[in-house]
Amino acid sequence: TGVGVVVVAAGSGQRLGHGIPKARVLCGGLTLLEHALRAVLAAELAEVVVVVLPPGDEVLAGVVAGATGAAQGGPRILAVAGGASRSASVRSGLDALPATLRTILVHDAARALTPPEVFHRVAARVSEGAAAVIPVLPVVDTVKIVEGDVVTRTPDRAVLRAVQTPQGFDAAALLEAHASAPAEHPAVTDDAMLMEARGTAVHVVDGDPLAFKVTTALDLTVAEAVLARTTT
Ligand code: C5P
Repeated sequence: TGVGVVVVAAGSGQRLGHGIPKARVLCGGLTLLEHALRAVLAAELAEVVVVVLPPGDEVLAGVVAGATGAAQGGPRILAVAGGASRSASVRSGLDALPATLRTILVHDAARALTPPEVFHRVAARVSEGAAAVIPVLPVVDTVKIVEGDVVTRTPDRAVLRAVQTPQGFDAAALLEAHASAPAEHPAVTDDAMLMEARGTAVHVVDGDPLAFKVTTALDLTVAEAVLARTTT
């Protein structure tokens, strides 16, 4: 297929407040990582999947091993250790991919319930020739720029979009962008930013509300409700 997927799952989950890495948190009886890997496999587009884990996490290594067994005839699945920032973790994942891929998707494990259609929309746009593609949703809240406790500006909501993953890239372009970016930069919150910085056009496709990032306790409650709705 020429498609590789990097699933980043090395975050600490501090904002969820469970005291364990977020990917290990249970949701409807399965870890968030298991849900995320099911979603990636359900999309049936990857030839190889690299899962980036908190260093030394044997529980999550076991989850990846389990997914490998379940994916007989499916993609090759491997696990690597992540870094201190999301972009460092993505880089570890990219380093483990074979050099032969045409397309790379980078996906947050925390977007555990992402429907296959989002993967398909992103990958299709890349194979049509876009070097960088991101799934987006309209922004429902008014968003303000704040300095200290004072508002300095209100951007026009109509032109704002909330950005999800998987983000899809021409493989060579993404590898170049990561290779030339500074090593550790906490303000790099997604991969498309690195492409924008190089003047590469980043195209948007429709995201999906179900691709929300499980970040807070409320998000976990929502995810559990979604799963209860779809399994009964
Ligand atoms: O922290 P943030 O919400 O941006 O995390 C998005 C995704 O990046 C999560 O799936 C998380 O596990 C991953 N991440 C990572 N390594 C880090 C920080 C975040 O793989 N050091």
